Order: sequence, then structure tokens, then C-alpha cells
Amino acid sequence: MSVAQHDGIRAGATISYEDLYQRWEQNNWSAYAIDFSRDREGWDALTDLQRESALWIYSMFFFGEDSVADNLSPYIDAAPTEEQKYFLATQQVDEARHAVFFHRFFKEVIGAGDDLASTLRFTESQLGWGYRNVFARLDTMADELRRDRSLPKFAQAIALYHMVVEATLAQPGQHFIEDYFAKSGTMPGFSEGMENVSRDEQRHIGFGVKVLTELLAESDECKAAVHELLLEIMPYSLAVFVPPSGLNREYTRCYGFEMEDIFAFGMRSVLTKWRAIGYPMEDMPGVFPVDHSLEPVEIAARQIRLLESHVMGEPHPNPDTSPEVQRLYFDVIARSADTKAVNGRPFTIQWTFDDADPWHVVVANGSTRAEPGVVGAADVTWKTSWADWIALSKGTLDPARAVLSRRVRFRASPRKLHTFTQLFPRRRTKPLP
Ligand SMILES: [Fe+2]
Ligand SMILES: [Fe+2]
Repeated sequence: MSVAQHDGIRAGATISYEDLYQRWEQNNWSAYAIDFSRDREGWDALTDLQRESALWIYSMFFFGEDSVADNLSPYIDAAPTEEQKYFLATQQVDEARHAVFFHRFFKEVIGAGDDLASTLRFTESQLGWGYRNVFARLDTMADELRRDRSLPKFAQAIALYHMVVEATLAQPGQHFIEDYFAKSGTMPGFSEGMENVSRDEQRHIGFGVKVLTELLAESDECKAAVHELLLEIMPYSLAVFVPPSGLNREYTRCYGFEMEDIFAFGMRSVLTKWRAIGYPMEDMPGVFPVDHSLEPVEIAARQIRLLESHVMGEPHPNPDTSPEVQRLYFDVIARSADTKAVNGRPFTIQWTFDDADPWHVVVANGSTRAEPGVVGAADVTWKTSWADWIALSKGTLDPARAVLSRRVRFRASPRKLHTFTQLFPRRRTKPLP
């Protein structure tokens, strides 16, 4: 763990808002003072693949910095204390400066775009489905916060901005990019700017950890709001590192690391931060339904396999039906069940697919399990195709319409169906196409 990362966590637990503000004054820097004169040569020396990959990653950074700069204002209005408002005001300046830094890099080194708007337009074709959904949610969250300045809404908004966007998504990307160019020394201006950006982001994340630690310690309502948001956003945030052209392993390999490394780094970092907040992810039903006893790299490998097989991530007409993928999928289903919904008696769900092997899940307190095959008596039975079931679980197929058109059939009493919906609460929003 780097010094800066360690700082981000400690900051959340013990540092004061006053200290956070002072660090901002002490660490001020100028995006226009960065010297890019040697970077062009470094950029031209990259391979075509490295440039293609870099364009994708930098586009996510530039678009993201612009979005967070635009969306922070309602946070300043909704923050309950003056100290928080002042810090958030410094953060908004930081985000604008970050956007200016990336814009300069695009314009002066890559040679793309002219004013901010044209460079932003240039990046749009590089943004994948997961990314677009996360940032669309950040936009709607800002609107919600303008109308509702309550503490639960504020906690939810901080969870999305500081914990999902900054700590889970931006930080791993920064870490790997910074690492590569710092070692190679070929783009000194870019490395210097990225170092400054990362230091600022540590401070922002430290603030987010601190705010959430305070809010969640006092209010179960804030906890519930955060839980709801994370349930909604996780399927998108897991797919952020998939470019629009599909997952390309070579995009990270050409810089000397594996996709699993980014995922595992992000996972470790975010699990640690939620623990520091006092609301470990392991205590949030359905949010990150994985076997937490596995090594982070193994968890990452499973997540990536599910993305590659189209069982997770962007809507796809033909998700993989292989037994290996089904096993990974039903493991996630079994672990995401909110066992509070069943009291005492085991609850059995059967799936039979036209085009894939049948599976069942037995939900029981402490011993939920998923297995292939058919059981004698089930509480709920689903009959459909694998593709339709996956579309349903991604939220892209409307359940009422699917049942009416008989694409999805089920056998269950109304009471058992109700239990099923409590075991697996549906996300409120529909993903972007
Ligand atoms: Fe930023
Ligand atoms: Fe930030």
C-alpha cells in the first residue's frame, strides 16, 4: 500500500475537516504549469495498441473529471456543516483543475479536440456501457440531492461520488497508469500531473470516508440509503473497465499488468475503506456477493469470467451457457440472497432452462447452496431460456412483460413469490442500453 493510499484511509478515521482543508492549501498546484514539451515524444513512442488503450483510459479520466466537477455543487448545499461545505468547495476547484490537466494533455500531446466541449465530444465514443451507466447515475444523483438535502440522501450521494467513482473506479486506474509512466519516465508532464491528481483524490476519498463514518454511526436510515445505492450501482461499476468494443485483455497486458490486477487492487482498497467506515461490505446483503475467503485475484478472475461470458455487464443476446459459467452465476445468486427473508425453514428455487442445464438454490440461514439439477419440490420454479433469465437479472427485460408474453413462466403461490422478491430485491432503475 502506498503512503498516499494509507493516508486516505487514516484521514477518514482520525483527521479533522480543518486538517483536510489545510492540506488542500499546502498541496495546491497549477495545471497550466505542467510542462508537456517532452511528452509528445513519449506518446509517439508508444505502440499502436498502447495508444489505443491509453486513449480509452484517458477518455474515462477526462470525461469523469468533467462530470465530477459539474456534479459537486449540490453536495456543497446539502452538506450539514460549514467545515464540510468549505472542504467540498476546495474539492470542486480540484476537479476542475484535473479536467483542465487532462484537457491540456488531449489537446497538446494527443492532438485531439480544441476547446473543452470538443475534446469531451471526442472522448464519448470511448466510454463503455458500465461507465456510461455509473456517470448517468451521478448526474441523476446530483438532481436528487438538489431536491432532497436530507442526511440519507447526502450519505447516498457521498457513497456514489467518493466511494464508488473516486475510490473504486478512479483510484485503481490512477495507480496502474502512474506506475507505468513513472517507471518508464517517457511522459514526464503526464506523470507529474497524475501524481498531483492522485494526491488530491486521496484527500477527497479521506473526506468521504470521514463523512460516511460519522453519518452511518448515527443513522440506520443513512445505512439503508447507502445499501440501496450500492445494490443498484455494483453491476455497472463492475463493468466499467470494459471498453465499448468489448473486453480486451491486451489493453492492460501492453502496459505489463493483467485485468485481474486492477480488479483485485480496487477490491482490496474498497473493502478496506468500507471496513474503516464501520459498515463492511460483507454486512451488505447482495452488494458484493462473492466468497470473501478467496484471494482477491481469484475473486477478480471470476468477475472477469462473468463479464467475458456476458452473464454480467452490457446486455447481450447470447450469454454463455457453459456449466462453468452457470456455476459461477448461481454461486453469485446464492450469495446475494437476503436470508432475513426466510425464517427458519429452507426455501428452494428451481430454474429449468430451454437451452441450458437446470439449477436450483436452497436458501437457508447460514447454509445457502446452489447446485445443478432438478429437486423434487421447490417453493418457486422458473421456466425460461438462459438468455431471457440473464436479461431479467440484468434489469433489461421487464418481468411483468416477460411473464405476460410467456417468455418467462413460473410456478409458485403468491406468498412464496413474495418471499422470492424479498430474497432478491429488484433494482429500481433500468440500465441505459
Ligand atoms: Fe478528480
Ligand atoms: Fe476527486
